[in-house]
Amino acid sequence: MSNLLLINKKIKSFNKKIIVNGDKSLSIRWALLASQAIGASKAYNLLMSEDVIAALNAIKKLGIKVNINKNYCEVFGNGIDGFRYKKNLTINAKNSGTLGRLILGLLIKSPYKIRLIGDKSLSKRDFSRVTIPLGKFGTKFYYKKKNKLPLSILGSQSVKGIKYLENKGSAQCKSSVMLAALNASGETFIKAKKSRNHSELLFKYLKIPIKVKKTKRFDFIDIKKPKKIKAFNYRIPGDISSSAFFIVLTTLANNSKLLIKDVNINPTRTGIITILKKMGAKITLKNQRNYRGEKISDILVKSSNNLRAINCPSKLNSSAIDEFLVIFLVAAKAKGVSYFKDISELNQKESPRLYWGSKILNMMGIKTDLTKESIKIYGQPDLKITRLIMIKNYLKDHRIFMMSTIAALTFGGQWKIHDKDSINTSFPSFLKIIKKIDNQSL
Ligand code: S3P
Repeated sequence: MSNLLLINKKIKSFNKKIIVNGDKSLSIRWALLASQAIGASKAYNLLMSEDVIAALNAIKKLGIKVNINKNYCEVFGNGIDGFRYKKNLTINAKNSGTLGRLILGLLIKSPYKIRLIGDKSLSKRDFSRVTIPLGKFGTKFYYKKKNKLPLSILGSQSVKGIKYLENKGSAQCKSSVMLAALNASGETFIKAKKSRNHSELLFKYLKIPIKVKKTKRFDFIDIKKPKKIKAFNYRIPGDISSSAFFIVLTTLANNSKLLIKDVNINPTRTGIITILKKMGAKITLKNQRNYRGEKISDILVKSSNNLRAINCPSKLNSSAIDEFLVIFLVAAKAKGVSYFKDISELNQKESPRLYWGSKILNMMGIKTDLTKESIKIYGQPDLKITRLIMIKNYLKDHRIFMMSTIAALTFGGQWKIHDKDSINTSFPSFLKIIKKIDNQSL
């Protein structure tokens, strides 16, 4: 099968109902927390993507039994401190920043050096953001290249709780220290800039002693080492970050309607809905319910032919951090100049996304003003692309591939998008769902 996607037709009007894959953040957290529980935990609708499979393989290497069945996945945890492995272990986090950073938190007491490696993209990303706070527990880290993978971790036997200020708004950094706190005696105090709070909600559900005090910009989180974690079953809801591509597809398509079933709408993740609604998108949440502290809903989207530019408030950044690439496409079609600021974190992702987002918009004929932490996008409501656009050498960033596909289907032109298999990182059924919505075969 060719790894190149060719698109030269816009999507026709549609009226469909879809289900997206399970949430990536919750799937990885479930696997890691189940590995710390005592007994068999089951997950239904676990995202079976490369990032999550890498997480399952990592805990397997650490001596945890994992069974993947047709309808569920089972992890047989040995409790906190229950990893069993020999010397010279290497863990491969592949493309996953979340796995690479979170698993280090579970290894702060490792008696032997463990090597952590990743793919080309992950090996370009900064790990000091977690190794500096984890170092405060007494854990040692050894790098070959400054702050980049591969690294080795060597734990310390007597770890005590720490105080940590997380000021990037990174849930990966916060969660890495939260997982470390499970192994540290006494209490760990975290002051964290707002970011997704799945770890906090899972800790609460699992009765791990946690207190969260929320203020406007920061959350104050205190965690005490639990005596034990009981095995738990969990049904993973749909991923809003995957839904985002279809929310934008429908918003930009002509005269179309889409219902996305069972999506996690945790308020720390729904920045895209707030931002797009301010821009004139037609999005309604239906059938809202709660599941173990998480909010779930169906999302109804209708096309909009009256989109306006936004001066995006920075306070929405962390809740839309993975969605900016597709939000930029809405800005490309909106009337006026949109401005997104304080988003330098976008360049810390699987590829430098702020740079790539701007580059793709420029290829489409959209003017941008780009700095290291902001972008202005000069919208063109009547934009029609006629030229050939080639998307390649983008470090196989799954979200660049999916953004380009949505751009091709909604703005037209001739597109050659390389590295189709990049979707396997987070959203293996992405192209199947496109085919279900669009009757043209890709
Ligand atoms: C994630 C946190 C975010 C996000 C990533 C998943 C998580 O990263 O970009 O896709 O599951 O904690 P940062 O914490 O680095 O912002």
